Amino acid sequence: MPETSVLYVLNGPNLNLLGVREPDLYGHETLADVQARCERAADGTTVVFRQTNHEGELIDWVQEARTEACALVLNPAGYGHTSVALLDALKTLTIPIVECHLSNPAARERFRHRSYVSSVAAGVVSGFGPISYELAVRAALALVQERAGARGRSV
Ligand code: DQA
Repeated sequence: MPETSVLYVLNGPNLNLLGVREPDLYGHETLADVQARCERAADGTTVVFRQTNHEGELIDWVQEARTEACALVLNPAGYGHTSVALLDALKTLTIPIVECHLSNPAARERFRHRSYVSSVAAGVVSGFGPISYELAVRAALALVQERAGARGRSV
């Protein structure tokens, strides 16, 4: 586990359009608003918050998180339902991964019910709009603390 207290929050395609894109589903807050929520929820822990529309770039950032982050919150957006390459990248991580969605994909179209990310995530937070991110950040940091505590007890 990397000796770092940097939390990565990575966002996949189309999330740059948050606030404009299907507001009935995803709400009116922008991604900048969501970032501010994450930073508040992280309560002093440094947050690296990024979004990309490109699968390869997302994979590069996941690889970066492997050595630079204490935990990863990931909203893979559409790639969660399709990308084996993203799953393969996530499998190289030993830090906690929390999958996060604004909407509840399980209550939507069938093709959204499968998530490649869920199989390697410690947990999934979905359906609470931007609050999903706050809960995901808190869960990820709680897992980091718990693991650090468990390591401390084993020496
Ligand atoms: C999403 C849900 C996905 O199914 C969808 O492709 C997205 C956003 C969400 O946050 O609710 O782009 O990840």
